[in-house]
Amino acid sequence: MSKITIAIDGFSSTGKSTVAKQLAKHLGYVYVDSGAMYRAVTYYAMQNGLISKDGFNVEGLISQLDNIQISFKFNDNLGFAEVYLNGENIEKAIRTLEVSGFVSQVAAISEVRAKLVEQQQKMGAEKGVVMDGRDIGTVVFPDADLKLFMTATAEKRAIRRYDELIERGDEVLYEDVLKNVQERDRIDSTREDSPLVKAEDAIEIDNSNLSLQEQYDKLLDIVKKTLEKTK
Ligand code: DC
Repeated sequence: MSKITIAIDGFSSTGKSTVAKQLAKHLGYVYVDSGAMYRAVTYYAMQNGLISKDGFNVEGLISQLDNIQISFKFNDNLGFAEVYLNGENIEKAIRTLEVSGFVSQVAAISEVRAKLVEQQQKMGAEKGVVMDGRDIGTVVFPDADLKLFMTATAEKRAIRRYDELIERGDEVLYEDVLKNVQERDRIDSTREDSPLVKAEDAIEIDNSNLSLQEQYDKLLDIVKKTLEKTK
C-alpha cells in the first residue's frame, strides 16, 4: 500500500501530538512534532541571552540561525522521537511555561519559519509521515493526502496543559496556563507569516467532548478511508 502524508494542524493543546503519535505508531510512519522545533529555537534564544529580562534580540537570533541544529532521535522506551538541539536532548526542557511564553514570538519571525519549513519538507519528502503544527496543511505540505484541523475550547485546552505541567512537577496556576493558551491563540492566528488557519480541504475535529479513545477511533476511521482512496 502506498504511503500518505498526514497533516494535523490546530490550536495549542488540542491533543494534536497525542493522536499524531498514535496514528504514526499504528501506521508505522514517522511522527514529526513541528512545534518542538519552534520551541527548540526559543530555548536556544533563552540559553544564549537573546531572550532575557532586557527583551528579545530578534536580529541577534536571526544572525545565529545557522548555529542551530535541530534533530529527532527515536526513543524506544517512549515510543516516539525526542528533539535534540546541537546534540543535546531538550525534549523536557522545551515544555516549560517559560518557553511556552515566548515561543509564539519566535514562531512569528519569517527567517525562523523559512529555516524550519525547509527542514520539515525534507523530513516528509518520502511520505509516510504524520506531522503536527499550525501551518502543515497550508504551507509545509499543501498537497498532503489528509489534513486534519483540531479544535477545542480554550478552557478545556488549558485544563489539559495544566494537568500535564502539574504531573511533571511544575508549579503553575491554572489562570496563568489559560492566559498563555489564549495569548498564543491570538499571536498564532494573527501573525503575518503563515497564520494558523484551517486549510480549505481540512477536516475539522472538535474534541472538547471526545475521550482520547473516541478521538483516536474517529481519526483512524478517516485515515483508513483516505488510504482506500489513495491505493
Ligand atoms: O504545538 P506547540 O504548542 O508545541 O507549538 C509551539 C508554538 O510553535 C506555537 O505557539 C506556535 C508555533 N508553531 C508554529 O508556528 N508552526 C508550527 N508548524 C508549529 C508550531
